[in-house]
Amino acid sequence: MAAAVSVSRGLFGRLPSDGAEVERFQLKSESLTVDVISLGCIITALQVQGRAAESEDVVLGFDTLEGYLSKHPYFGAVIGRVANRIAKGKFTVDGKEYELAINNGPNSIHGGLIGFDKKLWTPEVLPNGVRFSLVSEDGDEGYPGELKMWVTYTLHGGELTINYRAQTTKTTPINLTNHSYFNLAGHGASSVYDHEVCIAADSYLPVDDTMIPTGEVASVQGSSFDLRKPVVLAAQIKKFQIDGFDHNFCVNLQKEQRYSARVYHPPSGRVLQVGTTLPGIQFYTANFLDGSLKGKGGAVYPKHSAFCLEAQNWPDAVNKPNFPDALLRPGEEYNHTTWLKFSVV
Ligand code: BGC
Repeated sequence: MAAAVSVSRGLFGRLPSDGAEVERFQLKSESLTVDVISLGCIITALQVQGRAAESEDVVLGFDTLEGYLSKHPYFGAVIGRVANRIAKGKFTVDGKEYELAINNGPNSIHGGLIGFDKKLWTPEVLPNGVRFSLVSEDGDEGYPGELKMWVTYTLHGGELTINYRAQTTKTTPINLTNHSYFNLAGHGASSVYDHEVCIAADSYLPVDDTMIPTGEVASVQGSSFDLRKPVVLAAQIKKFQIDGFDHNFCVNLQKEQRYSARVYHPPSGRVLQVGTTLPGIQFYTANFLDGSLKGKGGAVYPKHSAFCLEAQNWPDAVNKPNFPDALLRPGEEYNHTTWLKFSVV
């Protein structure tokens, strides 16, 4: 049995608009310390031991609330109502067309202008974690139905579990994820080139020049996307002359194995394994970071200084009949889980 987990809570900051409290919860086990705030369910820090028992904070982020309230690329946040892109910000449900804010080229991304990452969630402390709830009103960011949600973080030893539940009053697309940016060397390290990545996916989704899937489900065989055996990122980027990764991997159904992705950082021995009940993982190597943000402890975050493994339904699934069902209907429950397991080898 894993040793006990402690949970503490405190003030992280106050919203300038109305003075509302943003609280910080710290979940602590023997090997992992996770800080989460009630704004956007953001993971602000994740301290993990390495081989030499030295601990590093392996997620990008900010020291203060101010950082999270200014423009940033969703560091650590829960994303919704629909993570990733919806083509032209349009979809049709039950014969009715809906229009969303366009906030990424010609498309809609990550829930719109004020997505769930910018909302103040209501916290509830659990014995080994914290649960956040939020009601997204009917018509919120153009989406149909009132959506009730619960996002639960629990810690068991070296594993952080994120469970997402939701219920709606009208049929709506939904796709919830967590958008943490990891660097297993520690969040201030200049790149993730020395990380070894493995994703159990036989196929991936090619995209058009606006990053919308073409609809084809392509085999990874022989391509830069073949990560079924571990590859060192620097070598893979060089070998295939690519700019990094920003694609959905169609993960193989894991029957006996919980984890679909594994990242290993040889110098520290840290390993992150990611498991999900969802059919996709967006593997993103922070191609759009440019070092202009001032991160924790004054760190700068250049291009390729982190990776994201966003467990998700396939991008633009609501507009692609051959993709997995993107809709949640009244009377149903959305219930998905992501596991982030840290270990040292
Ligand atoms: C997307 C990237 C985007 C990043 C931050 C990822 O989910 O795939 O293209 O830059 O989120 O918005």
